[in-house]
Parts: sequence; C-alpha cells; structure tokens
Amino acid sequence: MRKLGLYIHWPYCAKICPYCDFNIYRARGRDVDGLVAAIKTEILKWHSKMPSRKLTSIFFGGGTPSLLLPSKIGEIITLCEKLWGFEDDVEITLETNPDDAAIDKLKWFKKVGINRLSLGVQCFSDNGLKELGRFHSAADSFNATENARKIFDNVSIDIIYARPNQNLDEMQQDFIIASEFDVDHISPYQLTIEPETAFARKAARGALIPKPDDEAGEFYDLAGKILDELGYKQYEISNHAKSPDKFSKHNLIYWQSQDFIGIGPGAHGRLGGVEDRIATLNHLRPDEYITAINKTATATIEYEKLSGSDAAREYYLMGLRLNNGCALLMNDGVLNHEKLSTLIDDGYIAKDGNIIKITDNGRKFANYIVSQILD
Ligand SMILES: C[S@@+](CC[C@H](N)C(=O)[O-])C[C@H]1O[C@@H](n2cnc3c(N)ncnc32)[C@H](O)[C@@H]1O
Ligand code: SF4
Repeated sequence: MRKLGLYIHWPYCAKICPYCDFNIYRARGRDVDGLVAAIKTEILKWHSKMPSRKLTSIFFGGGTPSLLLPSKIGEIITLCEKLWGFEDDVEITLETNPDDAAIDKLKWFKKVGINRLSLGVQCFSDNGLKELGRFHSAADSFNATENARKIFDNVSIDIIYARPNQNLDEMQQDFIIASEFDVDHISPYQLTIEPETAFARKAARGALIPKPDDEAGEFYDLAGKILDELGYKQYEISNHAKSPDKFSKHNLIYWQSQDFIGIGPGAHGRLGGVEDRIATLNHLRPDEYITAINKTATATIEYEKLSGSDAAREYYLMGLRLNNGCALLMNDGVLNHEKLSTLIDDGYIAKDGNIIKITDNGRKFANYIVSQILD
C-alpha cells in the first residue's frame, strides 16, 4: 500500500527574511480564522475524494505555522484523525520559529498532537543571525532548542551555512552546539541566493558577495564530515539523523515518490505511481485561495497527469537525493544507460542489483550527476 502524507502550508510570517523565496506573506492584519476554516474545508474535500487511506504523516510548513494558536493546529489534527485515521507511528511535524518556542506553547503543541518539532534555528551566533537578516537572537536559538529538547522526543533543527562572511570554524561551532543539545535530526542548508529576494537585490548591487562554488563545496564537505563525527549520519543530501528511526517520515514520502496531498495556499501535491502520477498546485495568494475554497471547496490551479517520462524523471531526481538511492524503473525511457555506465565506472554512482545510488564521491555534484544520466 502506498504511503499518504499531508503537507499543510501556513503562508504567514511575522517578518520576511531577506533570503527567503517561499510562498510567504506578512502576517499583520490577515484573516487567520478565514484561512483555518478554508484549510479544514479543503481537507474535507480531499477526504471525500480519497477516503480509504491512513495517514503516515502531517507536516505543518510555511511560512510560520508556529504563529498559529496550538488550539487551531489541534482542530486540524483532530479533523484529519477523525477522517482518515493515523498509522500507529504517525509523524506530525510543526515548523517552528525560535521566537515562538516558549516552553508553555511547546507543551500545548505537544498536547494537541504535534510529535516532531522542526526548529528554524539557522545559527547559534548573533553575528550569523544578523548576517542572515533573521529577527531572533542567539539567545532565542539556545532557549528554543533547549525547550524543544525538554518537551519533544523528536527534534530537528535547520542550520544555514556558507554565509558570505562565515568561516569553517563558525560553521563547525553551530553543529557542535546542536549536538550538545542532542537534537535528533539536523538539516544543514547551504545559503542560496534566490532570485527576487532582498539578498538577490543586494548581490546585484555588489553589497553581498556569495561564496564561490569551490568554497561553498568546501563547506559542504566539512559539514558532512563534522556531522558524521558528531553521530549525525547523512541519509539525504541536506539531512542527517542520529538513527534511522529519526529520518523524516514525511520527507521520505517526497524522496520515495509516495503520495502527498498539498493543502493551503501554494501547496503542491503528488498522487499515484509513476505510470499515473497526478501533480496538483493550489492558488498561491491566501485571499484567492480562501475565495476559491469558499466557492468550490477546492483551490487547485493545476491538476495535471504527468507524462510517463516527466514522472520517471521526477522519481530519479527525488530518489537519488537519498544515500540509499532508488530502484531502477522498467522501461522508464529517461535514463541514459551509456552515461550511467560511465558514471558507475568513474565511481560516482553505485549499482547493486536493481538499486542505483550516488556514492560519497559524487554527492557534492549530485545535481550535475542526475542531469547527466537523465535524457
Ligand atoms: C520555509 S523555511 C520555514 C521555517 C521557519 N519559518 C523559519 O524560518 O524558521 C524552511 C527552512 O528553509 C531554509 N531556507 C529557506 N530559504 C533558504 C535559502 N535561501 N537558503 C538556504 N536555506 C533556506 C531555512 O533553513 C528554513 O528553516
Ligand atoms: S525563512 Fe521562515 S520566517 Fe523567514 S520568511 Fe521564510 S518562512 Fe518566513
């Protein structure tokens, strides 16, 4: 049976970070109750289309879903449980900003059903947070991680590295601090200058100089090495965990091309196997999303059956992000077998029976390698 996860997008943030290009909007003056009601309506509609499945995971992402009152998060979780029911080891994650992580609020999130916290720490130093244009302090990073560790059995933190002014020692320090809190999972993300963000404008006028690729590559290599030594084994390009039971069940659904429904403004979904994979996308703007839901109970602006080759391409793009790789598909029509053989001979890809995976030598160039083997 295929696994099913729900991604629920909460698009509001107290302030907008200068590097972020997610589907986000300033929270002030927004119709919070209207959006929660629309999200519930969309959940009911999706359940009516696919009623006989249990949920493997729910992921509240954003934006900043931790801005929501825990009681609202609880109403959504209760609705999902009542409709679909949960697998025994269901994973319910909340992305949380460090300034929303007071101990009483975290206790309340746990009480309403959240069992995994993904904290957007980004950095444990005031200098680094300032460079990133974050609105919380290093003290918030420390307090939030400490509180999360006290309340949750499953804590993940996001760290952004390879900032323009960062050195290798400073990056190492962030990982050491994270490990001292004994968090279960770390997602180190290399700072990316996304088009049309404040950082992209700053870079265009020369006020921000991103690290050149070779230097960023050095940061990537060292990040992997340190995290490994600290006991956080890499299982995906940007994800490390203390043990396999702490791998993100929800994200595995993406990487293993299982089923996920995208709920909320701008959320993407994917349903069905490679031969009949459906891709969905919702209205991006919250007001348009709410209006569409109130009219028709759906908000999809795209509901498309992917061609076999597009679905196969996506399957390899996602599956090869995992250290364990993925199984070869029968007659996929997109793999260039000649290039695959060359990359295997050169030691960048390993093949074991039906499974292909990118080797440790190749991981840093994963995107390039995958682009080479896909026609
Ligand atoms: C969509 S954000 C939501 C998390 C939460 N709102 C927060 O900021 O703490 C998820 C994660 O993506 C990462 N991220 C967002 N933009 C990025 C960028 N341009 N470069 C690297 N990482 C980025 C950050 O680590 C962030 O925690
Ligand atoms: S990084 Fe997080 S808090 Fe900052 S704008 Fe993006 S989603 Fe919002």
